[in-house]
Amino acid sequence: MASVSMIVIGAGARGNVYASFACAQPDKARIVGVAEPREFYRKRIAEQHHVPAANVAADWRELAARPKLADAALICTQDDLHVEPALACIQQGYHVLLEKPMGQKEADTRRVAQAAIQAGIMFAVCHVLRYTGYTQRLKAIIDSGAIGDVVSLQHLEPMGYWHMAHSFVRGNWRNEERSSPLLLSKSCHDLDWIHYVMGGRCERISSFGSLYHFRKEQRAAGAGERCLECAVEPQCPYSAKKIYLGRLARGETGWPLDTVTSELTQEGVTQALRTGQYGRCVYACDNDVVDNQVVNMLYDRGRTATFSVVAFNKWTDRKTRIFGTRGELHGDGQSIEHFDFLADKTDTIDTRRAQEDDAYGHGGGDFGLMQAFTSAIASGDRRKILSGPQETLASHLMVFAAERSRREGHVVEMQY
Ligand SMILES: NC(=O)c1ccc[n+]([C@@H]2O[C@H](COP(=O)([O-])OP(=O)(O)OC[C@H]3O[C@@H](n4cnc5c(N)ncnc54)[C@H](O)[C@@H]3O)[C@@H](O)[C@H]2O)c1
Repeated sequence: MASVSMIVIGAGARGNVYASFACAQPDKARIVGVAEPREFYRKRIAEQHHVPAANVAADWRELAARPKLADAALICTQDDLHVEPALACIQQGYHVLLEKPMGQKEADTRRVAQAAIQAGIMFAVCHVLRYTGYTQRLKAIIDSGAIGDVVSLQHLEPMGYWHMAHSFVRGNWRNEERSSPLLLSKSCHDLDWIHYVMGGRCERISSFGSLYHFRKEQRAAGAGERCLECAVEPQCPYSAKKIYLGRLARGETGWPLDTVTSELTQEGVTQALRTGQYGRCVYACDNDVVDNQVVNMLYDRGRTATFSVVAFNKWTDRKTRIFGTRGELHGDGQSIEHFDFLADKTDTIDTRRAQEDDAYGHGGGDFGLMQAFTSAIASGDRRKILSGPQETLASHLMVFAAERSRREGHVVEMQY
């Protein structure tokens, strides 16, 4: 089959990452249409991929109203704009790559999964962590029986203090009403990953969590509304001056700076911090998502898993410990320590493929996902997709149940 033709719906950060797969592997994918309201981002994709002018639109509805013009649609709009374009593209017969979350509400998520299954299209949700070399190696060790039965698992997501401030206090995922609870917007990846690694069925779930720190009461005396006009800014680890102008001074221009402004100069960034959302004091934002949360899961046959997501740390890879009846695994996103009970010794497995991982984002998962999606379409073999509608629905339902537990204060029985 010729390369898979694709339209990009939402050409922001994620749309651009997935589209860049077509530049790296033109024999696998090509971009033939784009819908994006912001001119700079729309033009960037259109020019890079030589998209015919007739297939360049400012809104996804314009492309969806046309007869199907590609094999697949990459839906990379913000969280609240996934369900409508996904249903429209599924109905038109596009194969669909959909950014997470699949839906912000349980009923919508079920609707999208059902529509994808019924249409028989190739459908993948961007749970990129499943597709990394690290995860695949870890999963292969477990599936080989090397640690016996997996009885229990602990997983930590260290969000990183400045990443929390950027995305979940000042940024697009700060407010549950405007986007989603943190467990859905950020940690649906982690519950999905835990579900993949544990295998089997989660039966009961409970959760606690709160917004402990980024609140008005924590604001120091003398603090300004914006970091550029704040008397105590030099003492604040969350200072926007430090996070953004500091990075610019070090010559960095990629994420997170490129979400603040497309004018990546001292003047451009300063202007954005003076007027835009990323210059605000972290104690004076309209944020309400949690900065710490734990989830407990009871799996089939009495097996257990725990998850913590916390803002107050250095931004590093997730850390995981997996306890089996014949051995134990410690993973840090790059290497895996395997302690074998019979031999009473530890082997360390380095899963880094340094060049590729660094270049392709999320430990190689971004391009791993694109690789799987395009080859599923080309070969007709849907098993290549590890995050299809059923798997993703199951792990999203765990997120919705955990959120219900956190809000209502009781253990929730899983209903699939
Ligand atoms: N899989 C991952 O690891 C991962 C990582 C980060 C973000 N995400 C998810 O990816 C999605 C996009 O995030 P992002 O950081 O790229 O956001 P973004 O804001 O950079 O991109 C979204 C784009 O959609 C465009 N858009 C808005 N209305 C539109 C319309 N009517 N038609 C077409 N386009 C429209 C916006 O202008 C914007 O450019 C979010 O749902 C986010 O949760 C996933």
